Amino acid sequence: MKKAIYPGSFDPLTLGHLDIIKRAAEIFDNLTVGVLDNHGKTPLFSVEERVNILKEATKDLPNVKVEFFSGLLVDYARENGYHVSVRGLRAITDFEYELQIAQTNKMLSGGALDTMFLTSDVEYSYLSSSGVKEIASFGGDISKCVPDFVVKPVYEKYNIHK
Ligand code: PNS
Repeated sequence: MKKAIYPGSFDPLTLGHLDIIKRAAEIFDNLTVGVLDNHGKTPLFSVEERVNILKEATKDLPNVKVEFFSGLLVDYARENGYHVSVRGLRAITDFEYELQIAQTNKMLSGGALDTMFLTSDVEYSYLSSSGVKEIASFGGDISKCVPDFVVKPVYEKYNIHK
């Protein structure tokens, strides 16, 4: 059985993330979405909220499970037997950051954790969680950026009731 982890902050989940999840779930027998519980930065959504959103969004994908992790990805991967980390690449601007993470993880894991990149669909190549937050904070339209059921909860974080 080939399994992989798709790590990220998912704060919030975007349609671009969901597209990567669906495509990776077709490549691997089992895919785990690993939601980062990073105590260093204050997210818009708590880790529990992000896990619940991802569980709802992936409920029809039987080979996808959602978990959270804290600390280093390589430690979580080693403890749970993952040898492949999946990441999405939107544009060349992502590349340097992603290459650095991939190579760091390869070094930290002693070669045990590889990274596989899926290029984002052009339809979603402009999307980012930080962009979604900025648009929502000013009351802009995020309906083309996140799954339908996520739109309202994002606005509510900014006390915007639409
Ligand atoms: O969605 P993001 O915020 O771009 O995801 C970044 C993520 C979660 C993949 C990365 O920050 C991560 O794996 N953090 C866990 C800590 C870690 O392992 N750091 C070493 C690699 S730089």
